[in-house]
Amino acid sequence: MNEKPVVLVTRKLPDAVEERLRRSFDPRLNADDRVYTQGELLELAQGADAIVPTHTERLDAELIRRLPDSIRAICSFSVGFDHIDLQAAKARGIIVTNTPDVLSDATAEIALLLMLGAARRAHEGEQLIRTATWLEWSPTYRLGIQVTGKRLGIIGMGRVGQVLARRARGFDMEIHYYNRQRLSPELEAGARYHEDLDELLAVSQFLSIHCPATADTHHLLNAERIARLPDGAVVVNTARGAVVDDDALIAALSSGKLFAAGLDVYNGEPNIDPRYRELENTFLLPHIGSATRETRDAMGFRALDNLDAIMAGREPADRLV
Ligand code: 8YV
Repeated sequence: MNEKPVVLVTRKLPDAVEERLRRSFDPRLNADDRVYTQGELLELAQGADAIVPTHTERLDAELIRRLPDSIRAICSFSVGFDHIDLQAAKARGIIVTNTPDVLSDATAEIALLLMLGAARRAHEGEQLIRTATWLEWSPTYRLGIQVTGKRLGIIGMGRVGQVLARRARGFDMEIHYYNRQRLSPELEAGARYHEDLDELLAVSQFLSIHCPATADTHHLLNAERIARLPDGAVVVNTARGAVVDDDALIAALSSGKLFAAGLDVYNGEPNIDPRYRELENTFLLPHIGSATRETRDAMGFRALDNLDAIMAGREPADRLV
């Protein structure tokens, strides 16, 4: 008889993580790394004790309601949890965990890359080289915006926002932030707190989004708020697409109100609004904020630490509900 808990793992995880899964559990792995349909998820969850999903699965209220009674835990391989209906899980007594902390460095790196790439028109230059269409040079050729010394506004000064602030100080940037709560002076480290989002926007020559996607932050960056940014600002998003109103952002990029945007996350991933591709002043990455070998291993181990705790009847470190 197999006594190891059965775990449905929805996507292919790093080798070291899958090895550890095999040691402690009886995992249902996804060798083909296909995104399962809702029906497949329900079928594969039959008789399982837990699910380790990623953000590509939609564990909505309906799916959670139909999960078998055997499911005791959902240990997400992600820090974001907008793909899981927490209230529905709570109602069924299913524990839900995420993987905070371990992806802050990697995600802040990508935010910085997007800031630099968007401001310095990196993709245009790269494309010229790759397509062998670089034919000229002049003192006014492909001018971008300098990042050094500018004001950086951070929406959501949690773990990722704080790491970005530290890195941005290396570029002599003046850090401003908006957050539900003001940080302690030690964590603030000189950053200026704005209790009012509009005030933050007014000073943000660069704006980086680091808040979770919730009902409150849905389309937070809309036309009205973009209008409050200084002309020629650069917007960066490594959080979630849902925080941005695509129509408003695209209009501001087209009109020149914004100099550029650097995006790693989108509404409707991976089927992003095609207009982003047509704009020259966008620097676009495919949701790779946490995509380093080190971080993806650490995310997996963190999810498994939570799973170990729950299966042993202990309190997991990263319990959401
Ligand atoms: C992850 C992320 O790669 O953790 C998150 O919330 O957005 C990504 O960096 C992804 O969610 C994995 O499920």
